[in-house]
Amino acid sequence: MILCRTLTELSEQLTKLKHNCSNRSNGSNGSVGFVPTMGYLHEGHASLLRRSRAENDISVLSIFVNPLQFGPNEDLDRYPRDEKRDLALAEECQVDLVFLPSTEEMYPKKPLTRVLVSGLTSKLCGASRPGHFDGVGMVVGKLFHLIGPTRAYFGMKDAQQVAVIQQMVDDLNYPVEIVPCPIVREPDGLALSSRNVYLSAEERAEAVVLSQTLQAAAQWIQEDGMTAEALLERVRQQISNAHHADIDYAELYTYPSLEEVPAAAPILLQSDKLILALAVKFGSTRLIDNRLLYPNEVINHA
Ligand code: PAF
Repeated sequence: MILCRTLTELSEQLTKLKHNCSNRSNGSNGSVGFVPTMGYLHEGHASLLRRSRAENDISVLSIFVNPLQFGPNEDLDRYPRDEKRDLALAEECQVDLVFLPSTEEMYPKKPLTRVLVSGLTSKLCGASRPGHFDGVGMVVGKLFHLIGPTRAYFGMKDAQQVAVIQQMVDDLNYPVEIVPCPIVREPDGLALSSRNVYLSAEERAEAVVLSQTLQAAAQWIQEDGMTAEALLERVRQQISNAHHADIDYAELYTYPSLEEVPAAAPILLQSDKLILALAVKFGSTRLIDNRLLYPNEVINHA
């Protein structure tokens, strides 16, 4: 596995890897699978890396805690890091190249360009974390330029991020296929996140309310006449039963367009795919989770 810390090393090593592929007689065309991460890898990242390995000739991982996507009062300084463990997992997932740039390498001078995907970023995490998606767009856009992936793999836990990046790729004609991948969960349902390590034992036990509520909501939308308003009321009520839970948002939108769902109309009359998205703080740890809901399928299969 090749480690690159500079842009020059990255460019040289990628050229070599692609050249080696084109010399092989097994029909490989040098396709590049890319998994961008901020490190502290877990089984969710591993699932992306395995898929990247299976579907491409070359598999690339980046580990970079991107300061541009953290707000002034967020957890940039305490964001968990463990390079040794990350590299061991990358080896296990048969990554060919790991790109681990420093902040100076990625941003040698203060960037003045902004990658702003409007509309989609004004709600959910975009509303709670102003500027967050501009930072994500900037770093992902840069990494796409530097790596030139054929396919890039993103977890659906960050469903809004997937929608924003797909829009950026469409708008700017990046020649990359965005591959959304399923959320990986603990046995009790908690979505895997690098931030789960911050939770106290008590908060960890309560955090399961997120996935339990999402699962229950998939049943609740099937109730006769259930509206978005009534669903969200029930969702908020159930989450609030957990003592440490402090709801940032619990919202229902169309997905991936993130348009409003009429509050008082029966959900089952919606023709779009919907997303029920949650952001909840347990102590100082903010967790997100979501579930896609398919009202159409409920009706068609009834
Ligand atoms: O999802 C993440 O970990 C980050 O937002 C990403 C895509 C690696 C950009 O820093």
